[in-house]
Amino acid sequence: MADYHISCMPAEAVHYLNLKPGGVYVDGTVGGAGHSRLICKGIQPDGLLIGIDQDLDAIRHAREVLAPFFPRVSLHHDTFSHLDQIIHALGLDGVDGILLDIGLSRHQLEGSGRGFSFQRDEPLDMRMNAEAEMTAADVVNHWDLDALIRIFRDYGEERRARSIARAIVKARARQPLESSKTLADLIYRSVPAAAARRQKIHPATRVFQALRITVNRELDRLERTLPKAVDCLNPGGRLCVLSFHSLEDRIVKQTFREMARTCTCPPRAPVCTCRGKARVNVLTRKVVRPTAAEIEANPMARSTRLRAVEKC
Ligand SMILES: C[S@@+](CC[C@H](N)C(=O)[O-])C[C@H]1O[C@@H](n2cnc3c(N)ncnc32)[C@H](O)[C@@H]1O
Repeated sequence: MADYHISCMPAEAVHYLNLKPGGVYVDGTVGGAGHSRLICKGIQPDGLLIGIDQDLDAIRHAREVLAPFFPRVSLHHDTFSHLDQIIHALGLDGVDGILLDIGLSRHQLEGSGRGFSFQRDEPLDMRMNAEAEMTAADVVNHWDLDALIRIFRDYGEERRARSIARAIVKARARQPLESSKTLADLIYRSVPAAAARRQKIHPATRVFQALRITVNRELDRLERTLPKAVDCLNPGGRLCVLSFHSLEDRIVKQTFREMARTCTCPPRAPVCTCRGKARVNVLTRKVVRPTAAEIEANPMARSTRLRAVEKC
């Protein structure tokens, strides 16, 4: 399990999910099944875990890890944005908790051979779901200059978006860019040497993040899923989200804040006419971060941000 992935903030995630024996919980991002296993243990003997992952490798791996808990486990190779359909197809009206641990597993980054890491020489794929149509190579070789600039800027927060996109367009005219290393080297060369040396992170980090977000439609799916997830909770049910960069965390924070608002009247309305009722209570006033001990033991956990809500 640890070879596949080391779960981030496991104790905190379980705490915020408020596991109840006999409860029904969804792990929307099964990955290495570390969180799923803890959930299964916490809801024994007759609880149900619904596990979803868009990566078939994760589902296959989870089948082995969670074997001791069958038949109280239901695994689905799908995107978590379909969680409402999956829950209803199982004949359930609602669930007691949902966990989303978005981001990449260690297996995807280091062992999948799909070009997620700029430190490896692999095909430029970056699909979490190998059945999806668009690869990172499709984006870098076929999207026009403006579209590349936009994703590098919006999804990578890359200050050199324009010069990097120009370098890509020029290079691909000679030969398509097919590997993660070719792309990483090209980005490195497109940044002035002194600036590359000054940067704390590899100059390709942000572009790789942008491509991964684009290929897997990560922000769009997260945005669409959060309200659906709350709809699927029983009253008192919990939604806990672990995110890994500021773009995701901003979406989680703003969506939770919006759903916790009691009044939705325009700010200048003299009196409240909406009789609005908050949909959730925010359980994490401030974002929760991993402890120093966890970061030391698992450096991949260093950027984890946890937020949770309870349905009213
Ligand atoms: C950080 S790992 C999860 C690790 C897991 N919590 C554990 O304890 O091992 C993230 C997983 O979420 C999956 N994933 C990301 N976005 C998804 C989506 N929209 N739908 C389903 N799975 C998704 C990835 O394929 C990956 O396996």
